[in-house]
Amino acid sequence: MIDVLYSKEAIDRRIQEMAQELAKDWKDNTILIALLKGSFVFTADLIRALYTVGVSPQIDFMTLSSYGEGMESSGSIVIQKDITDTVSGRQVLLVDDILESGRTLALAKQLLLERGAAQVKVAVMLEKPGKRVMDIQADIVGFVISDVFVVGFGLDYANYYRELPFIGVLKEADYDTIT
Ligand code: IMP
Ligand code: MG
Repeated sequence: MIDVLYSKEAIDRRIQEMAQELAKDWKDNTILIALLKGSFVFTADLIRALYTVGVSPQIDFMTLSSYGEGMESSGSIVIQKDITDTVSGRQVLLVDDILESGRTLALAKQLLLERGAAQVKVAVMLEKPGKRVMDIQADIVGFVISDVFVVGFGLDYANYYRELPFIGVLKEADYDTIT
């Protein structure tokens, strides 16, 4: 069983608030770069919430892998799919599902700055504090959660559960039913 942590309605409300906050100091020429796969659902909702507050970013995607199929962060990260747009001189809003150790986002942010991005802001749906190994902070966070393993709304366990319209807690008893 997966316990609901944040309902679809709660997520919708929070994303609308986030869009309003982001719109306040939105800079023209911003490109939104979503980290796949985990952020695709959050990104899809966020861009449509941004539309309602008059913000129209360009959008690109990047796939970095750190987790593999398990639940432990491996520590080494590879670029599996790169963006196709250029970021030089541009404002970037980097979007991810969850900020945990910070390895994924730190690498992505550093890479984009090395490529000449003028500024890289970070937006995440979830943040798990206390697990950070890299010095990186999100500029905007949907929800701060405790140290539980969550799935749904794009977040996976072994590439399952991404379709859940809510964010739920996967309990240990469920791990075996998948693998
Ligand atoms: P970090 O690089 O350690 O910050 O981990 C970020 C990535 O780990 C996220 O993009 C997720 O794919 C994955 N991750 C971390 N915590 C969870 C979780 O509770 N559920 C599902 N995926 C997670
Ligand atoms: Mg993942």
